[in-house]
Amino acid sequence: MIEVKNVSYVYSAGTPFEVKALDDVSFTIGEGEFIGLIGHTGSGKSTLVNIISGIVKPTSGQVLIDNIDITNQKSVTRALKGKIGLVFQYPEYQLFEETVYKDIAFGPKNIGVPDSEIDDRVKEALKTVGLSEDILNKSPFELSGGQKRRVAIAGILSMKPKILILDEPTAGLDPGGRDEILGRIKELHSDYSITVILVSHSMEDVAKICEKVIVMSQGKILKYSYLDEVFKDSEELRENGLSVPEITTIMQKLKSLGLDVRDDIFRIEDAKEEILKILKGGEDQ
Ligand SMILES: Nc1ncnc2c1ncn2[C@@H]1O[C@H](COP(=O)(O)OP(=O)(O)OP(=O)(O)O)[C@@H](O)[C@H]1O
Ligand SMILES: [Mg+2]
Repeated sequence: MIEVKNVSYVYSAGTPFEVKALDDVSFTIGEGEFIGLIGHTGSGKSTLVNIISGIVKPTSGQVLIDNIDITNQKSVTRALKGKIGLVFQYPEYQLFEETVYKDIAFGPKNIGVPDSEIDDRVKEALKTVGLSEDILNKSPFELSGGQKRRVAIAGILSMKPKILILDEPTAGLDPGGRDEILGRIKELHSDYSITVILVSHSMEDVAKICEKVIVMSQGKILKYSYLDEVFKDSEELRENGLSVPEITTIMQKLKSLGLDVRDDIFRIEDAKEEILKILKGGEDQ
């Protein structure tokens, strides 16, 4: 379980460039949940996930992972070793080893996984992100953008984290690559019941795979609820520079035009079913 308690974060405190990136944020994420973290650019998403991962210390407040206070300096490394995996925003810039193999093996080696297990870990992670083994001896710099992104994700998966945090994992990828990576993350979540936090700008992506959403605005939590609850108030989201998925807008419009459809729909398949129901109803009359 992840408990974030009254966390605030200030960049460049005491200088003219001071920015309050997080302002008294509190929430809880249960084990095995799949959470979307959305918000306008600069709303504090990356700062928040860096703090949850223990990479950055909050200016004030606490983060507890399975009842262990990770903001307490001493316990941090032991408690977190391999438990939380964070895939940074634009992780491909952090590939640095001479081969893909070494890059994916780096994490597990670093947390003390025995050498005899490393090979299996590397191959399994590679498979999970949908890459074949002939890539292992290449330099990460020879790869395409999408491949680099997958290698970077594999480098986190090879540590087998219980909590997987991905900061904009699909940013800048083409729609095909985006859907494939999202599909793999969804599979990981259902196969291994890990907790996932997916940071995204895209309501469509979040609607496709998450169960609950945290909406951030200017360093605060604006909403934290199940998808239908969050998308119900599209006006409030728009006021905060966010939109609901396109299909939700369409259903809301159909309803306002007098059609008897549900307007709390955010997935294409559900919309299709709802519209077919209306069409069939029309035939019966
Ligand atoms: N290293 C830094 N130094 C100073 N200010 C920073 C730094 N990093 C972030 N900020 C500021 O803190 C606030 C929150 O930034 P953060 O990167 O957490 O937002 P974000 O929601 O992840 O944005 P994006 O969607 O663009 O990735 C912003 O106002 C940003 O300008
Ligand atoms: Mg960010």
